[in-house]
Amino acid sequence: MAEYDYDVLVIGAGPGGYVAAIRAAQLGLKTACVEARATLGGTCLNVGCIPSKALLHGSELFDEAAHGTMAKFGVVTGPVTLDLAAMQAEKASAVKELTGGIEYLFRKNKVTWIKGHATFADAHSVTVADARITAKNIVIATGSSVTPLPGVAVDNDAGVIVDSTGALALTKVPDHLVVIGGGVIGLELGSVWRRLGAKVTVVEYLDQLLPGMDDDVRKEAAKVFKKQGFDLKLSTKVTAAHVADGRAVLTTEPSAGGAAESLDADVVLVAIGRRPHTEGLGLDAIGLAPNARGQIETDADLRTAVAGVWAIGDVIPGPMLAHKAEDEGIAVAENIAGLTGIINHAVIPGVVYTAPEFAGVGLTEAAARALGPVKVGKFPMSANSRAKTNREADGFVKIIADAQTDRVLGVWIVATLAGTMIAQAAQAMEFGATSEDIAYTCHAHPTHSEAIKEAAMAVTGKPIHI
Ligand code: FAD
Ligand code: NAI
Repeated sequence: MAEYDYDVLVIGAGPGGYVAAIRAAQLGLKTACVEARATLGGTCLNVGCIPSKALLHGSELFDEAAHGTMAKFGVVTGPVTLDLAAMQAEKASAVKELTGGIEYLFRKNKVTWIKGHATFADAHSVTVADARITAKNIVIATGSSVTPLPGVAVDNDAGVIVDSTGALALTKVPDHLVVIGGGVIGLELGSVWRRLGAKVTVVEYLDQLLPGMDDDVRKEAAKVFKKQGFDLKLSTKVTAAHVADGRAVLTTEPSAGGAAESLDADVVLVAIGRRPHTEGLGLDAIGLAPNARGQIETDADLRTAVAGVWAIGDVIPGPMLAHKAEDEGIAVAENIAGLTGIINHAVIPGVVYTAPEFAGVGLTEAAARALGPVKVGKFPMSANSRAKTNREADGFVKIIADAQTDRVLGVWIVATLAGTMIAQAAQAMEFGATSEDIAYTCHAHPTHSEAIKEAAMAVTGKPIHI
Protein backbone atom coordinates (compact mmCIF):
# COMPACT_ATOMS: atom_id res chain seq x y z
CA MET A 1 0.00 0.00 0.00
CA ALA A 2 1.23 3.52 -0.81
CA GLU A 3 2.54 5.47 2.16
CA TYR A 4 0.23 8.43 1.35
CA ASP A 5 -3.18 8.79 -0.36
CA TYR A 6 -1.75 11.43 -2.73
CA ASP A 7 1.60 12.75 -3.89
CA VAL A 8 0.17 16.28 -3.77
CA LEU A 9 -2.82 17.69 -1.93
CA VAL A 10 -3.71 21.32 -2.70
CA ILE A 11 -5.89 23.27 -0.25
CA GLY A 12 -7.97 25.84 -2.16
CA ALA A 13 -9.04 25.84 -5.81
CA GLY A 14 -8.43 29.48 -6.74
CA PRO A 15 -6.07 30.51 -9.57
CA GLY A 16 -3.12 29.42 -7.42
CA GLY A 17 -4.51 26.11 -6.23
CA TYR A 18 -6.29 24.85 -9.33
CA VAL A 19 -3.29 25.65 -11.55
CA ALA A 20 -0.90 23.93 -9.09
CA ALA A 21 -3.16 20.85 -9.03
CA ILE A 22 -3.43 20.63 -12.82
CA ARG A 23 0.32 21.08 -13.37
CA ALA A 24 1.14 18.51 -10.65
CA ALA A 25 -1.19 16.01 -12.34
CA GLN A 26 0.31 16.81 -15.76
CA LEU A 27 3.71 15.96 -14.27
CA GLY A 28 2.46 12.51 -13.31
CA LEU A 29 1.83 13.14 -9.61
CA LYS A 30 -1.31 11.72 -7.97
CA THR A 31 -3.12 14.93 -7.03
CA ALA A 32 -6.19 16.09 -5.12
CA CYS A 33 -7.55 19.56 -4.45
CA VAL A 34 -9.79 20.40 -1.48
CA GLU A 35 -12.19 23.33 -1.92
CA ALA A 36 -14.62 24.65 0.68
CA ARG A 37 -16.74 26.59 -1.86
CA ALA A 38 -19.42 24.78 -3.88
CA THR A 39 -17.63 25.65 -7.13
CA LEU A 40 -14.00 25.73 -8.27
CA GLY A 41 -12.04 28.85 -9.27
CA GLY A 42 -11.71 30.61 -5.90
CA THR A 43 -12.23 34.31 -5.34
CA CYS A 44 -11.16 35.18 -8.87
CA LEU A 45 -13.71 33.19 -10.85
CA ASN A 46 -16.58 33.31 -8.35
CA VAL A 47 -16.56 36.77 -6.78
CA GLY A 48 -13.51 38.58 -8.17
CA CYS A 49 -11.79 39.00 -11.54
CA ILE A 50 -14.48 37.39 -13.70
CA PRO A 51 -17.77 38.80 -12.36
CA SER A 52 -16.20 42.25 -12.00
CA LYS A 53 -14.99 42.20 -15.60
CA ALA A 54 -18.43 41.04 -16.80
CA LEU A 55 -20.04 44.05 -15.10
CA LEU A 56 -17.27 46.39 -16.30
CA HIS A 57 -17.90 45.24 -19.88
CA GLY A 58 -21.69 45.43 -19.62
CA SER A 59 -21.65 48.83 -17.95
CA GLU A 60 -19.22 50.16 -20.56
CA LEU A 61 -21.59 49.10 -23.35
CA PHE A 62 -24.47 50.82 -21.54
CA ASP A 63 -22.43 53.97 -20.96
CA GLU A 64 -21.38 54.15 -24.62
CA ALA A 65 -24.95 53.72 -25.80
CA ALA A 66 -26.62 55.93 -23.20
CA HIS A 67 -24.18 58.80 -22.99
CA GLY A 68 -23.42 59.59 -26.58
CA THR A 69 -20.14 57.81 -27.44
CA MET A 70 -21.87 55.61 -30.00
CA ALA A 71 -24.04 58.47 -31.28
CA LYS A 72 -20.90 60.55 -31.88
CA PHE A 73 -19.80 57.90 -34.38
CA GLY A 74 -23.23 57.89 -36.03
CA VAL A 75 -24.65 54.86 -34.25
CA VAL A 76 -28.09 56.18 -33.41
CA THR A 77 -30.14 54.17 -30.96
CA GLY A 78 -33.60 54.73 -29.55
CA PRO A 79 -33.93 55.57 -25.88
CA VAL A 80 -31.42 53.43 -23.98
CA THR A 81 -32.71 51.66 -20.90
CA LEU A 82 -30.96 49.38 -18.44
CA ASP A 83 -32.07 45.81 -17.76
CA LEU A 84 -29.87 45.21 -14.73
CA ALA A 85 -31.29 41.72 -14.18
CA ALA A 86 -30.15 40.74 -17.69
CA MET A 87 -26.68 42.21 -17.09
CA GLN A 88 -26.42 40.28 -13.80
CA ALA A 89 -27.62 37.11 -15.55
CA GLU A 90 -24.94 37.47 -18.22
CA LYS A 91 -22.34 37.88 -15.45
CA ALA A 92 -23.66 34.74 -13.72
CA SER A 93 -23.43 32.78 -17.00
CA ALA A 94 -19.79 33.78 -17.48
CA VAL A 95 -18.98 32.70 -13.90
CA LYS A 96 -20.81 29.40 -14.38
CA GLU A 97 -19.07 28.65 -17.68
CA LEU A 98 -15.62 29.44 -16.30
CA THR A 99 -15.98 27.63 -12.97
CA GLY A 100 -17.44 24.68 -14.90
CA GLY A 101 -14.40 24.88 -17.16
CA ILE A 102 -12.10 24.19 -14.20
CA GLU A 103 -14.23 21.18 -13.27
CA TYR A 104 -13.72 19.90 -16.82
CA LEU A 105 -9.95 20.50 -16.59
CA PHE A 106 -9.81 18.60 -13.27
CA ARG A 107 -11.57 15.63 -14.87
CA LYS A 108 -9.38 15.80 -17.98
CA ASN A 109 -6.16 15.87 -15.92
CA LYS A 110 -7.39 13.36 -13.31
CA VAL A 111 -7.24 15.77 -10.38
CA THR A 112 -9.52 14.56 -7.56
CA TRP A 113 -11.80 17.34 -6.29
CA ILE A 114 -12.48 16.89 -2.57
CA LYS A 115 -15.41 19.04 -1.45
CA GLY A 116 -15.19 20.59 2.01
CA HIS A 117 -13.02 22.57 4.40
CA ALA A 118 -9.52 21.22 5.08
CA THR A 119 -7.86 21.45 8.48
CA PHE A 120 -4.32 20.24 9.12
CA ALA A 121 -4.01 17.21 11.39
CA ASP A 122 -0.24 17.02 10.86
CA ALA A 123 2.25 18.05 8.17
CA HIS A 124 1.17 15.19 5.88
CA SER A 125 -2.55 14.98 6.57
CA VAL A 126 -5.71 17.05 6.69
CA THR A 127 -9.22 16.34 7.83
CA VAL A 128 -12.17 17.19 5.60
CA ALA A 129 -15.47 16.59 7.39
CA ASP A 130 -14.85 13.18 9.00
CA ALA A 131 -12.27 11.97 6.51
CA ARG A 132 -8.52 12.04 7.02
CA ILE A 133 -6.52 12.46 3.83
CA THR A 134 -2.76 12.06 3.63
CA ALA A 135 -0.28 13.43 1.12
CA LYS A 136 3.47 13.55 0.69
CA ASN A 137 3.23 17.25 -0.19
CA ILE A 138 0.55 19.72 0.85
CA VAL A 139 0.17 23.09 -0.88
CA ILE A 140 -1.62 25.87 1.00
CA ALA A 141 -3.50 28.01 -1.54
CA THR A 142 -6.25 29.37 0.69
CA GLY A 143 -6.22 32.90 -0.76
CA SER A 144 -7.49 36.01 0.95
CA SER A 145 -10.63 37.60 2.31
CA VAL A 146 -11.88 41.17 2.77
CA THR A 147 -10.14 43.33 5.38
CA PRO A 148 -12.85 44.54 7.77
CA LEU A 149 -13.09 48.20 8.79
CA PRO A 150 -13.76 48.54 12.53
CA GLY A 151 -17.07 50.28 13.16
CA VAL A 152 -18.37 49.64 9.63
CA ALA A 153 -20.23 46.32 9.66
CA VAL A 154 -20.64 44.66 6.26
CA ASP A 155 -23.97 42.91 5.59
CA ASN A 156 -24.14 41.77 1.97
CA ASP A 157 -27.65 40.34 2.42
CA ALA A 158 -29.07 43.66 3.61
CA GLY A 159 -27.22 45.31 0.70
CA VAL A 160 -26.54 48.69 2.37
CA ILE A 161 -22.98 48.31 3.67
CA VAL A 162 -21.35 45.75 1.39
CA ASP A 163 -17.96 44.40 0.40
CA SER A 164 -16.93 43.61 -3.19
CA THR A 165 -19.07 40.45 -3.22
CA GLY A 166 -22.15 42.46 -2.26
CA ALA A 167 -21.30 45.27 -4.70
CA LEU A 168 -21.13 42.73 -7.54
CA ALA A 169 -24.63 41.49 -6.73
CA LEU A 170 -26.68 44.69 -6.32
CA THR A 171 -30.13 44.37 -7.87
CA LYS A 172 -30.77 48.11 -8.12
CA VAL A 173 -28.51 50.99 -9.18
CA PRO A 174 -27.90 53.07 -6.03
CA ASP A 175 -28.58 56.81 -6.25
CA HIS A 176 -25.47 57.45 -4.17
CA LEU A 177 -22.67 54.90 -3.72
CA VAL A 178 -19.92 55.73 -1.26
CA VAL A 179 -16.76 53.69 -1.70
CA ILE A 180 -14.37 53.48 1.24
CA GLY A 181 -10.91 52.94 -0.29
CA GLY A 182 -9.61 54.43 -3.55
CA GLY A 183 -7.77 51.27 -4.60
CA VAL A 184 -8.39 48.77 -7.37
CA ILE A 185 -11.76 47.42 -6.18
CA GLY A 186 -13.12 50.85 -5.29
CA LEU A 187 -12.30 52.29 -8.71
CA GLU A 188 -13.39 49.25 -10.77
CA LEU A 189 -16.70 48.71 -8.99
CA GLY A 190 -17.21 52.45 -8.52
CA SER A 191 -16.86 52.73 -12.32
CA VAL A 192 -19.47 50.01 -12.88
CA TRP A 193 -22.14 51.75 -10.80
CA ARG A 194 -21.25 55.26 -11.99
CA ARG A 195 -21.67 54.16 -15.60
CA LEU A 196 -25.05 52.67 -14.72
CA GLY A 197 -26.22 55.95 -13.19
CA ALA A 198 -25.04 56.19 -9.56
CA LYS A 199 -23.37 59.23 -8.07
CA VAL A 200 -20.10 57.84 -6.68
CA THR A 201 -18.06 59.28 -3.82
CA VAL A 202 -14.68 57.74 -2.99
CA VAL A 203 -13.31 58.24 0.52
CA GLU A 204 -9.57 57.52 0.50
CA TYR A 205 -7.32 57.72 3.55
CA LEU A 206 -4.19 58.68 1.57
CA ASP A 207 -3.68 61.85 -0.49
CA GLN A 208 -3.75 59.90 -3.81
CA LEU A 209 -5.62 56.97 -5.35
CA LEU A 210 -4.06 53.61 -6.29
CA PRO A 211 -1.24 53.12 -3.77
CA GLY A 212 1.73 51.21 -5.16
CA MET A 213 1.43 52.66 -8.65
CA ASP A 214 3.78 55.25 -10.16
CA ASP A 215 3.11 58.82 -8.94
CA ASP A 216 2.30 60.11 -12.46
CA VAL A 217 -0.25 57.31 -12.84
CA ARG A 218 -1.83 58.14 -9.50
CA LYS A 219 -2.06 61.85 -10.42
CA GLU A 220 -3.60 60.95 -13.79
CA ALA A 221 -6.10 58.68 -12.02
CA ALA A 222 -7.34 61.56 -9.87
CA LYS A 223 -7.73 63.72 -13.00
CA VAL A 224 -9.51 61.03 -15.02
CA PHE A 225 -11.95 59.94 -12.31
CA LYS A 226 -12.81 63.55 -11.37
CA LYS A 227 -13.52 64.25 -15.05
CA GLN A 228 -15.83 61.22 -15.10
CA GLY A 229 -17.84 62.70 -12.24
CA PHE A 230 -16.44 60.81 -9.24
CA ASP A 231 -16.44 62.86 -6.05
CA LEU A 232 -12.99 62.16 -4.55
CA LYS A 233 -12.53 62.76 -0.84
CA LEU A 234 -8.78 62.18 -0.47
CA SER A 235 -6.89 62.36 2.85
CA THR A 236 -10.17 61.46 4.55
CA LYS A 237 -11.12 58.64 6.90
CA VAL A 238 -14.44 57.09 7.90
CA THR A 239 -14.77 56.96 11.66
CA ALA A 240 -18.28 55.53 12.05
CA ALA A 241 -21.22 54.19 10.08
CA HIS A 242 -24.78 53.29 10.86
CA VAL A 243 -27.78 52.14 8.89
CA ALA A 244 -31.18 53.76 9.41
CA ASP A 245 -34.29 53.23 7.27
CA GLY A 246 -32.30 51.29 4.68
CA ARG A 247 -29.71 54.04 4.17
CA ALA A 248 -26.22 54.47 5.56
CA VAL A 249 -24.87 57.50 7.36
CA LEU A 250 -21.09 57.75 7.56
CA THR A 251 -19.00 60.01 9.74
CA THR A 252 -15.79 61.16 8.08
CA GLU A 253 -12.93 63.36 9.16
CA PRO A 254 -9.59 64.45 7.68
CA SER A 255 -7.01 61.62 7.98
CA ALA A 256 -4.78 63.96 9.97
CA GLY A 257 -7.69 64.75 12.34
CA GLY A 258 -10.11 67.66 12.29
CA ALA A 259 -13.78 68.50 12.01
CA ALA A 260 -16.15 65.58 11.43
CA GLU A 261 -18.63 65.55 8.54
CA SER A 262 -21.56 63.34 7.77
CA LEU A 263 -22.13 61.55 4.47
CA ASP A 264 -25.38 59.83 3.39
CA ALA A 265 -25.44 56.87 1.00
CA ASP A 266 -27.83 54.26 -0.39
CA VAL A 267 -24.94 51.81 -0.58
CA VAL A 268 -21.49 51.84 1.00
CA LEU A 269 -18.73 49.64 -0.48
CA VAL A 270 -15.93 48.78 1.93
CA ALA A 271 -12.79 48.16 -0.16
CA ILE A 272 -9.79 48.88 2.02
CA GLY A 273 -7.76 45.82 1.05
CA ARG A 274 -7.70 42.06 1.50
CA ARG A 275 -5.90 39.90 4.05
CA PRO A 276 -4.49 36.37 3.87
CA HIS A 277 -7.02 33.66 4.67
CA THR A 278 -5.81 31.04 7.16
CA GLU A 279 -8.87 30.81 9.41
CA GLY A 280 -9.76 27.26 10.43
CA LEU A 281 -6.74 25.86 8.60
CA GLY A 282 -5.19 24.47 11.79
CA LEU A 283 -1.70 25.88 11.24
CA ASP A 284 -1.05 25.30 14.97
CA ALA A 285 -1.20 21.56 14.39
CA ILE A 286 1.89 21.77 12.16
CA GLY A 287 3.68 24.49 14.15
CA LEU A 288 3.48 27.07 11.34
CA ALA A 289 2.89 30.67 12.45
CA PRO A 290 1.89 33.41 9.97
CA ASN A 291 3.99 36.60 10.00
CA ALA A 292 2.79 39.91 11.51
CA ARG A 293 0.71 40.60 8.37
CA GLY A 294 -0.98 37.21 8.58
CA GLN A 295 0.95 35.88 5.57
CA ILE A 296 2.60 32.49 5.33
CA GLU A 297 6.28 33.00 4.58
CA THR A 298 8.04 30.77 2.03
CA ASP A 299 11.48 30.51 0.53
CA ALA A 300 12.11 31.24 -3.16
CA ASP A 301 10.98 27.69 -4.02
CA LEU A 302 7.63 28.26 -2.20
CA ARG A 303 8.50 25.90 0.70
CA THR A 304 7.19 26.91 4.11
CA ALA A 305 9.19 26.36 7.29
CA VAL A 306 7.51 22.94 7.65
CA ALA A 307 8.96 20.13 5.50
CA GLY A 308 6.47 18.89 2.90
CA VAL A 309 4.21 21.96 3.23
CA TRP A 310 4.27 24.60 0.49
CA ALA A 311 2.30 27.85 0.01
CA ILE A 312 1.30 30.06 -2.94
CA GLY A 313 -0.98 32.93 -4.01
CA ASP A 314 -2.69 35.61 -1.92
CA VAL A 315 -1.85 33.81 1.34
CA ILE A 316 1.90 34.49 0.89
CA PRO A 317 3.68 37.88 0.52
CA GLY A 318 3.51 39.78 -2.78
CA PRO A 319 0.78 41.39 -4.85
CA MET A 320 -2.65 39.78 -4.48
CA LEU A 321 -3.16 39.04 -8.17
CA ALA A 322 -4.57 36.02 -9.97
CA HIS A 323 -1.72 35.74 -12.49
CA LYS A 324 0.90 35.89 -9.72
CA ALA A 325 -0.96 33.07 -7.94
CA GLU A 326 -1.15 31.07 -11.20
CA ASP A 327 2.57 31.42 -11.92
CA GLU A 328 3.35 30.34 -8.36
CA GLY A 329 0.97 27.40 -8.87
CA ILE A 330 2.98 26.19 -11.85
CA ALA A 331 6.30 26.79 -10.10
CA VAL A 332 5.32 24.95 -6.90
CA ALA A 333 4.15 21.90 -8.85
CA GLU A 334 7.36 21.85 -10.86
CA ASN A 335 9.45 22.19 -7.68
CA ILE A 336 7.54 19.34 -6.03
CA ALA A 337 8.17 17.21 -9.11
CA GLY A 338 11.90 17.88 -8.80
CA LEU A 339 12.08 20.36 -11.66
CA THR A 340 13.07 24.03 -11.37
CA GLY A 341 9.97 26.21 -11.00
CA ILE A 342 10.60 29.80 -12.00
CA ILE A 343 8.71 32.97 -11.14
CA ASN A 344 10.19 36.42 -11.62
CA HIS A 345 8.57 38.43 -8.86
CA ALA A 346 10.21 41.60 -10.22
CA VAL A 347 8.12 41.42 -13.39
CA ILE A 348 4.48 40.97 -12.40
CA PRO A 349 2.14 43.32 -14.24
CA GLY A 350 -0.80 44.97 -12.48
CA VAL A 351 -3.87 46.35 -14.22
CA VAL A 352 -6.89 48.38 -13.12
CA TYR A 353 -9.66 47.61 -15.60
CA THR A 354 -11.41 50.97 -15.67
CA ALA A 355 -11.74 53.22 -18.73
CA PRO A 356 -9.01 54.15 -19.42
CA GLU A 357 -7.12 51.23 -17.90
CA PHE A 358 -4.16 51.80 -15.57
CA ALA A 359 -1.29 49.33 -15.84
CA GLY A 360 2.27 48.94 -14.68
CA VAL A 361 5.14 46.50 -14.46
CA GLY A 362 8.46 46.75 -12.65
CA LEU A 363 9.62 49.72 -10.61
CA THR A 364 7.92 53.06 -10.12
CA GLU A 365 10.06 56.07 -10.99
CA ALA A 366 10.52 56.86 -7.28
CA ALA A 367 11.62 53.28 -6.47
CA ALA A 368 14.00 53.20 -9.45
CA ARG A 369 15.55 56.57 -8.54
CA ALA A 370 16.15 55.31 -5.01
CA LEU A 371 18.41 52.63 -6.55
CA GLY A 372 20.40 54.87 -8.90
CA PRO A 373 20.26 57.29 -11.85
CA VAL A 374 17.48 56.69 -14.39
CA LYS A 375 16.25 58.08 -17.71
CA VAL A 376 12.51 58.52 -18.25
CA GLY A 377 10.57 58.67 -21.53
CA LYS A 378 6.91 59.64 -21.68
CA PHE A 379 4.49 59.78 -24.59
CA PRO A 380 0.87 61.02 -24.36
CA MET A 381 -1.97 58.97 -25.84
CA SER A 382 -3.31 62.25 -27.27
CA ALA A 383 -0.40 62.07 -29.77
CA ASN A 384 -1.08 58.42 -30.70
CA SER A 385 -3.01 58.32 -33.96
CA ARG A 386 -5.23 55.33 -33.12
CA ALA A 387 -6.20 56.59 -29.66
CA LYS A 388 -6.90 60.02 -31.12
CA THR A 389 -9.04 58.55 -33.91
CA ASN A 390 -11.00 56.43 -31.45
CA ARG A 391 -11.48 59.52 -29.26
CA GLU A 392 -9.59 57.78 -26.44
CA ALA A 393 -6.90 60.38 -25.86
CA ASP A 394 -6.59 60.18 -22.04
CA GLY A 395 -3.35 58.82 -20.65
CA PHE A 396 0.29 58.16 -21.51
CA VAL A 397 3.06 55.59 -21.64
CA LYS A 398 6.03 56.10 -19.35
CA ILE A 399 9.23 54.07 -19.53
CA ILE A 400 11.90 54.17 -16.85
CA ALA A 401 15.36 52.91 -17.86
CA ASP A 402 18.67 52.58 -16.08
CA ALA A 403 20.73 55.69 -16.97
CA GLN A 404 23.92 53.67 -17.50
CA THR A 405 22.79 50.42 -19.11
CA ASP A 406 19.48 51.63 -20.67
CA ARG A 407 17.85 48.45 -19.33
CA VAL A 408 14.09 48.96 -18.83
CA LEU A 409 13.23 49.03 -15.11
CA GLY A 410 9.55 49.92 -15.21
CA VAL A 411 6.72 50.69 -17.63
CA TRP A 412 3.50 52.52 -16.71
CA ILE A 413 0.55 52.92 -19.04
CA VAL A 414 -2.73 54.79 -18.83
CA ALA A 415 -4.75 54.00 -21.97
CA THR A 416 -7.96 52.26 -23.00
CA LEU A 417 -5.93 49.15 -23.86
CA ALA A 418 -3.28 49.46 -21.14
CA GLY A 419 -4.06 45.98 -19.76
CA THR A 420 -3.24 44.40 -23.11
CA MET A 421 -0.32 46.70 -23.92
CA ILE A 422 1.47 45.97 -20.65
CA ALA A 423 2.12 42.35 -21.73
CA GLN A 424 4.61 43.61 -24.31
CA ALA A 425 6.42 45.60 -21.64
CA ALA A 426 6.54 42.59 -19.28
CA GLN A 427 7.94 40.39 -22.03
CA ALA A 428 10.56 42.98 -22.96
CA MET A 429 11.64 43.28 -19.32
CA GLU A 430 11.69 39.49 -18.94
CA PHE A 431 14.14 39.38 -21.87
CA GLY A 432 16.26 42.15 -20.30
CA ALA A 433 15.38 44.68 -23.02
CA THR A 434 16.83 48.17 -23.22
CA SER A 435 14.67 51.16 -24.19
CA GLU A 436 16.60 51.15 -27.47
CA ASP A 437 15.50 47.54 -28.14
CA ILE A 438 11.86 48.67 -27.84
CA ALA A 439 12.43 51.84 -29.86
CA TYR A 440 13.88 49.81 -32.76
CA THR A 441 11.15 47.14 -32.69
CA CYS A 442 8.66 47.63 -35.52
CA HIS A 443 5.15 48.25 -34.14
CA ALA A 444 2.07 47.96 -36.36
CA HIS A 445 0.36 51.20 -37.36
CA PRO A 446 -2.11 52.46 -36.31
CA THR A 447 -2.12 50.84 -32.86
CA HIS A 448 -2.17 52.08 -29.29
CA SER A 449 1.05 50.06 -28.81
CA GLU A 450 2.97 52.53 -30.97
CA ALA A 451 2.87 54.78 -27.90
CA ILE A 452 5.20 52.27 -26.19
CA LYS A 453 7.71 52.58 -29.03
CA GLU A 454 7.46 56.38 -28.91
CA ALA A 455 7.92 56.45 -25.12
CA ALA A 456 11.02 54.26 -25.60
CA MET A 457 12.27 56.74 -28.22
CA ALA A 458 11.59 59.52 -25.70
CA VAL A 459 13.95 57.89 -23.21
CA THR A 460 16.81 59.08 -25.39
CA GLY A 461 14.95 62.21 -26.50
CA LYS A 462 13.86 61.28 -30.03
CA PRO A 463 10.09 60.65 -30.28
CA ILE A 464 8.65 61.42 -33.73
CA HIS A 465 5.06 62.45 -33.06
CA ILE A 466 5.49 65.09 -30.36
P1 FAD B 1 -8.37 32.47 -3.95
O1 FAD B 1 -8.79 32.77 -5.32
O2 FAD B 1 -8.87 33.36 -2.86
O3 FAD B 1 -8.82 30.98 -3.67
C1 FAD B 1 -8.66 30.37 -2.44
C2 FAD B 1 -9.70 29.28 -2.30
O4 FAD B 1 -9.38 28.49 -1.17
C3 FAD B 1 -11.12 29.79 -2.07
O5 FAD B 1 -12.00 29.28 -3.05
C4 FAD B 1 -11.49 29.27 -0.68
O6 FAD B 1 -12.85 28.86 -0.58
C5 FAD B 1 -10.57 28.09 -0.53
N1 FAD B 1 -10.23 27.77 0.86
C6 FAD B 1 -9.74 28.61 1.80
N2 FAD B 1 -9.46 27.93 2.94
C7 FAD B 1 -9.79 26.63 2.70
C8 FAD B 1 -9.72 25.44 3.47
N3 FAD B 1 -9.21 25.44 4.72
N4 FAD B 1 -10.18 24.29 2.91
C9 FAD B 1 -10.66 24.27 1.64
N5 FAD B 1 -10.72 25.36 0.86
C10 FAD B 1 -10.28 26.53 1.38
N6 FAD B 1 -6.77 39.70 -9.62
C11 FAD B 1 -6.32 39.88 -10.88
O7 FAD B 1 -5.20 39.48 -11.18
N7 FAD B 1 -7.09 40.48 -11.84
C12 FAD B 1 -8.33 40.96 -11.55
O8 FAD B 1 -9.00 41.49 -12.43
C13 FAD B 1 -8.82 40.80 -10.24
N8 FAD B 1 -10.05 41.26 -9.92
C14 FAD B 1 -10.52 41.07 -8.65
C15 FAD B 1 -11.76 41.59 -8.32
C16 FAD B 1 -12.27 41.44 -7.04
C17 FAD B 1 -13.63 42.01 -6.71
C18 FAD B 1 -11.51 40.75 -6.07
C19 FAD B 1 -12.06 40.54 -4.68
C20 FAD B 1 -10.27 40.25 -6.36
C21 FAD B 1 -9.75 40.41 -7.66
N9 FAD B 1 -8.48 39.95 -8.02
C22 FAD B 1 -8.01 40.15 -9.28
C23 FAD B 1 -7.61 39.25 -7.05
C24 FAD B 1 -7.69 37.72 -7.29
O9 FAD B 1 -9.02 37.30 -7.15
C25 FAD B 1 -6.80 37.00 -6.30
O10 FAD B 1 -5.49 37.51 -6.37
C26 FAD B 1 -6.75 35.51 -6.61
O11 FAD B 1 -8.04 34.95 -6.58
C27 FAD B 1 -5.85 34.79 -5.62
O12 FAD B 1 -5.84 33.42 -5.92
P2 FAD B 1 -5.56 32.32 -4.78
O13 FAD B 1 -5.59 31.03 -5.50
O14 FAD B 1 -4.37 32.70 -4.01
O15 FAD B 1 -6.80 32.42 -3.78
P1 NAI C 1 -6.25 48.14 -2.38
O1 NAI C 1 -5.12 47.85 -1.50
O2 NAI C 1 -6.06 48.17 -3.85
O3 NAI C 1 -6.87 49.56 -2.00
C1 NAI C 1 -7.34 49.84 -0.71
C2 NAI C 1 -7.40 51.34 -0.54
O4 NAI C 1 -8.06 51.63 0.66
C3 NAI C 1 -6.02 52.00 -0.47
O5 NAI C 1 -5.98 53.08 -1.35
C4 NAI C 1 -5.90 52.40 0.99
O6 NAI C 1 -5.10 53.56 1.17
C5 NAI C 1 -7.34 52.68 1.32
N1 NAI C 1 -7.70 52.58 2.74
C6 NAI C 1 -7.22 51.70 3.64
N2 NAI C 1 -7.81 51.92 4.84
C7 NAI C 1 -8.68 52.94 4.66
C8 NAI C 1 -9.60 53.61 5.50
N3 NAI C 1 -9.75 53.26 6.78
N4 NAI C 1 -10.34 54.62 4.99
C9 NAI C 1 -10.20 54.98 3.68
N5 NAI C 1 -9.34 54.38 2.83
C10 NAI C 1 -8.61 53.37 3.32
O7 NAI C 1 -7.39 47.09 -1.96
P2 NAI C 1 -8.76 46.70 -2.64
O8 NAI C 1 -9.18 47.73 -3.62
O9 NAI C 1 -9.67 46.36 -1.52
O10 NAI C 1 -8.38 45.39 -3.41
C11 NAI C 1 -7.88 44.24 -2.68
C12 NAI C 1 -6.95 43.41 -3.50
O11 NAI C 1 -7.62 42.78 -4.57
C13 NAI C 1 -5.83 44.25 -4.09
O12 NAI C 1 -4.64 43.84 -3.46
C14 NAI C 1 -5.80 43.91 -5.54
O13 NAI C 1 -4.54 43.45 -5.89
C15 NAI C 1 -6.83 42.81 -5.73
N6 NAI C 1 -7.65 43.21 -6.87
C16 NAI C 1 -7.06 43.27 -8.10
C17 NAI C 1 -7.76 43.70 -9.20
C18 NAI C 1 -7.08 43.79 -10.50
O14 NAI C 1 -6.01 43.22 -10.64
N7 NAI C 1 -7.65 44.47 -11.49
C19 NAI C 1 -9.17 44.09 -9.11
C20 NAI C 1 -9.67 44.04 -7.77
C21 NAI C 1 -8.93 43.59 -6.71
